[in-house]
Amino acid sequence: MQGQHVLVTGAAGGIGLVIARLFLEQGANVSLHYNRTVDTLTPLLNEYPDRCNALSVNATNEQAVEQGIEQSCTRFGLINVCIINHAAFVGEDIPIWDMSLEQWQRTMDVNLTSYFLYAREWCRQLKRLTSTIDINNLNASLILIGSTAGKFGEANHLDYATSKGALQSGFIKSLKNEIVNIIPHARCNIVAPGWTRTPMAETSISQGKHFKALRTMPLRKIATTEDVAQACLFFASNKTAGHLTGNVLMVHGGMEGRVLWQENLQ
Ligand SMILES: NC(=O)c1ccc[n+]([C@@H]2O[C@H](COP(=O)([O-])OP(=O)(O)OC[C@H]3O[C@@H](n4cnc5c(N)ncnc54)[C@H](OP(=O)(O)O)[C@@H]3O)[C@@H](O)[C@H]2O)c1
Repeated sequence: MQGQHVLVTGAAGGIGLVIARLFLEQGANVSLHYNRTVDTLTPLLNEYPDRCNALSVNATNEQAVEQGIEQSCTRFGLINVCIINHAAFVGEDIPIWDMSLEQWQRTMDVNLTSYFLYAREWCRQLKRLTSTIDINNLNASLILIGSTAGKFGEANHLDYATSKGALQSGFIKSLKNEIVNIIPHARCNIVAPGWTRTPMAETSISQGKHFKALRTMPLRKIATTEDVAQACLFFASNKTAGHLTGNVLMVHGGMEGRVLWQENLQ
């Protein structure tokens, strides 16, 4: 990753922060895009003042995303690896009959439309910045963060599961066939975690909501943020994943859609 420019959205969140640190440790220049929270980024900014740059970007705002990508390119040049990681999840269980249109639309805005905005802008900067360079050996990798909810569904979180499912099917399968028209070896893949210990999941984990999912997993544990970050590192480089595109890598301890074991977890 030495000399590569990596952009991470939701960089101040549980998984984003660990992804950002891993890529900095690997020698990359990292653009840290965050929404409102910035405090958690301070240690990275202090440790790597020359190789990371934090920008506040509301991912649902078209103009903000355009400007954010442009400013990041101005600082570190072409974005080789773009990791779209931010998301919103309503922790409370809400069945469809109680779900407001506002919640549905907000989830689609944050988890789906903003992914379109970032992916589009990443493609546009590739088109813009590669007009004068040799593109044949260029490492260009787009990584989206999905979820087991997008594969198995998640009752009472229909909005979230639908947004992730859309990314993991039509979105990634179409995009992989388009980006090669800009860069011949450009790739896009999804890292889809199951339960991972982060602020987003903490309340649900403390209430034991993950127990049901654990019973469908032979590995009988939830993921660490490091597990997810390492999967992103794998997809980022054309040395490790040069022939992989359009894939959804499930980071879920072997989860199945059926119960595998029953012992009491309490
Ligand atoms: N944790 C899990 O168990 C789990 C499981 C499966 C998949 N995932 C996926 O993993 C990814 C990271 O989740 P996480 O667990 O690290 O969650 P997190 O700690 O809540 O981080 C999510 C980040 O997204 C940012 N964000 C929310 N709305 C935004 C917007 N409009 N514009 C820009 N950024 C925005 C948040 O920033 P603010 O707080 O400042 O708004 C936050 O930093 C997500 O895609 C999530 O769906 C997580």
